[in-house]
Amino acid sequence: MATGNNNQRGFWASRLGFVLAASGSAIGLGNVWKFPYITGENGGGAFVLIYLLCIAAVGLPIMLAEFTLGRKTNLNPVGAFQALKPGSPWVGIGFMGVAAGFLILSFYGVVGGWTIAYVVKSITRSALNFQSPAEAGDFFSTFIGNTEEILFYHALFMAICMVIVIKGVHSGIERACDILMPTLFVILLGLMIRSLTLPGAMEGVRFYLYPDFSKLSPGVVLVALGQAFFSLSLGMGAMLTYGSYLSERENLTSCAVYVVIFDTMIALLVGMVIFPAVFAMGLEPAEGPSLVFSVLPTVFSSMPMGGVVAVIFFALLVIAALTSGISLLEVVVAYFIDQKGWPRQKAVLFASLVIFAFGVPSGLSFGAMKDVTFMDMTFFDWVDNIASNYLLPLGGMLMAVFVGWVWGTRAAHEEIEKHETRFHWADQWSFLIRFVTPVAVMLVFLAHFF
Ligand code: PHE
Repeated sequence: MATGNNNQRGFWASRLGFVLAASGSAIGLGNVWKFPYITGENGGGAFVLIYLLCIAAVGLPIMLAEFTLGRKTNLNPVGAFQALKPGSPWVGIGFMGVAAGFLILSFYGVVGGWTIAYVVKSITRSALNFQSPAEAGDFFSTFIGNTEEILFYHALFMAICMVIVIKGVHSGIERACDILMPTLFVILLGLMIRSLTLPGAMEGVRFYLYPDFSKLSPGVVLVALGQAFFSLSLGMGAMLTYGSYLSERENLTSCAVYVVIFDTMIALLVGMVIFPAVFAMGLEPAEGPSLVFSVLPTVFSSMPMGGVVAVIFFALLVIAALTSGISLLEVVVAYFIDQKGWPRQKAVLFASLVIFAFGVPSGLSFGAMKDVTFMDMTFFDWVDNIASNYLLPLGGMLMAVFVGWVWGTRAAHEEIEKHETRFHWADQWSFLIRFVTPVAVMLVFLAHFF
């Protein structure tokens, strides 16, 4: 079997570097693009509340479990389960994770491409000067229907991911996250103030924060759970892989808490930017994947220095998307490096090309292939739905069962307490990981299917 600590792998330089890189993986299009549009589609406040519950009861315990598995084995998801239970079917969790990473990156790269295009279009000012969100929305629809442009930006996004991942975790991934995440936070704060002071904004705040429980259904809860996994990069071994590059001196618990708090704060903040503006401008909150791209350019068009803010905002969003994209790619790449013994460069080139090719139909799902649907869903919708709402929660649930019952919480405690780190929440965590997390995910699946 392959060993983890070979030279092709590398380590994080510091704890801060790790927390920022893991936050970089978590914070991305999931927070800025997906969270507002699915909150809008699923009724607002009540959805947000369920989402927060999923984060606390399911997301945080699994985050710690993934970090622990990764640091214990220093391996990719497939290798990790093989090392802890050789020859058992549990290695299937790892394969599922690699598959989920593959699928998610295939459509993530498409949306990442949209954000690069919006940097360019903000610089040339073609995506500015909109009088109404309808105008901005039309502009966006025309753009995502344009095959050449979409393919070009999609390819560009994947190429940048590829170059960063070839450089490896330390010089590539860690550096990219250090300054950019805090800057994104500050810009969002500014935009929130702008949104909240628009006339009619309070209606949006109400939609976003006041829970109307009549809007809940098992389907809505499943989407909230899926989003918790997606946003925190859980259930597929991305956090496991990042944990595998972490040194034994670091405190896993506090790292997990920081990452969860940062990610959740950014998502909540984005909601406070989008929904007040949506209502102030008389838009429909349930508009779907184009929501952010019709609301924000309209906000930028109407504000002083809007052009500059737009460029900075979309540039930061590209970077946030890249730091998530590279974590998705890294899972697939780590698999080829550790399990197949490939050199990093070959693994990265191969994985990026195949993922890009598989993503092409997702890119065309808003234009040339918009009418190619199955059960009313486009290729893009299918890939997103299968990966985010099924593979991630299922992967997370199996990991919880594995840590709670197969590998054992005692072994996990030992890993967490290395180097005299005290694990104050050991009992609570064990309870969550053994009972609450698996049962919650199972119930959500059952409720949805029956
Ligand atoms: N968490 C990332 C985001 O919110 C997406 C992602 C999912 C990254 C799963 C890695 C693994 O954009």
